[in-house]
Amino acid sequence: MADTFRAIVANKTDDGYVSKIEQIGLDQLSEGDVVVDVAYSTLNYKDGLAVTGKGKICESFPMVCGIDFSGTVASSDSADFKPGDQVVLNGYGLSQNHSGGYAEKARVRSGMLVKLPDGVDLKSAMAVGTAGYTAMLCVLALEKHGVGPKDGEVLVTGAAGGVGSVAVSVLAKLGYTVVASTGRESTHDYLKSLGAAECIDRNTLSEQGKPFQKPRWAGVVDTVGSHTLANALAQTKYGGCVAACGLAGGPDLSTTVLPFILRGVTLAGIDSVEAPMAARTEAWARLAVDLPMDKLNAMTETVPLEKVLELAPEILKGQVRGRVIVDVNA
Ligand SMILES: NC(=O)c1ccc[n+]([C@@H]2O[C@H](COP(=O)([O-])OP(=O)(O)OC[C@H]3O[C@@H](n4cnc5c(N)ncnc54)[C@H](OP(=O)(O)O)[C@@H]3O)[C@@H](O)[C@H]2O)c1
Repeated sequence: MADTFRAIVANKTDDGYVSKIEQIGLDQLSEGDVVVDVAYSTLNYKDGLAVTGKGKICESFPMVCGIDFSGTVASSDSADFKPGDQVVLNGYGLSQNHSGGYAEKARVRSGMLVKLPDGVDLKSAMAVGTAGYTAMLCVLALEKHGVGPKDGEVLVTGAAGGVGSVAVSVLAKLGYTVVASTGRESTHDYLKSLGAAECIDRNTLSEQGKPFQKPRWAGVVDTVGSHTLANALAQTKYGGCVAACGLAGGPDLSTTVLPFILRGVTLAGIDSVEAPMAARTEAWARLAVDLPMDKLNAMTETVPLEKVLELAPEILKGQVRGRVIVDVNA
């Protein structure tokens, strides 16, 4: 069986949508000029959608799931990578239109890969994962819009989730006063240990509110969308910025132009999937410096490949705390 390896493959069959571990070969992977021995992947909300079929993520079948991975280059037809290079890949259509990271091997285009910066090993890279890298894209957006630690409180919504946890840690390390919005009181100690100054109940933000409210936030990292995002916009202070990256509470957004035209608020959209290479390398370089790795370990659980099948429905129900690393070889 040396030529085959394990992968979580989603398929549409007469029995409906099925994801399971299969033994596959390189010829079942998408095209690319670099083959990687995958070390780790992670579990993200989007993976939950793809593995369960609850969201239309996979664009063709069968599809190897997993939207990210870290690993070591096994062979390369690209001058940019050589065997032994340690690399990371987030997004770029993995598990959508390109076979993904829930497999012991991946074949990808060299332009999709980022070499790991010094200080980030294969496991830490996936402790960070797409969630952490997206959180850093959000932090960079706040910085680029001039929101600094001295400007006042910064709100993180969906704070106990993967993106939220990393956003809280990084912002706190950078000196921001972080207010963490969560629906789980049991995570308050955890969020404070990551550096949150205060935790608030997410119900205070989740109902439809007035379009223009008492200003409180200098900046916001929003992973929830819907009324939560509308309320965050309505409560953002003059010149503030809201970095919107998620839809854990829903994809809708019902708001008015008032925060934009009366307070100069900026709504910064964050996409990690097609983010250009320059943004990726900047985010990874900053994560190496600004994410406290000890805090990262505290928010991380490592599971074997088959456990993904069990956890995928749980992450959709908001039952997963922090980051889940998938050891694809276990
Ligand atoms: N734009 C991008 O490129 C990008 C990249 C990665 C992720 N995302 C998106 O970002 C979001 C978070 O991803 P993640 O990986 O961090 O997922 P996650 O670990 O499941 O975290 C999501 C968190 O949102 C909160 N939440 C869940 N259901 C909610 C609801 N109905 N109303 C309000 N809050 C709710 C929960 O936090 P509490 O328990 O603390 O309330 C949950 O832990 C997802 O929507 C994901 O699709 C986008």
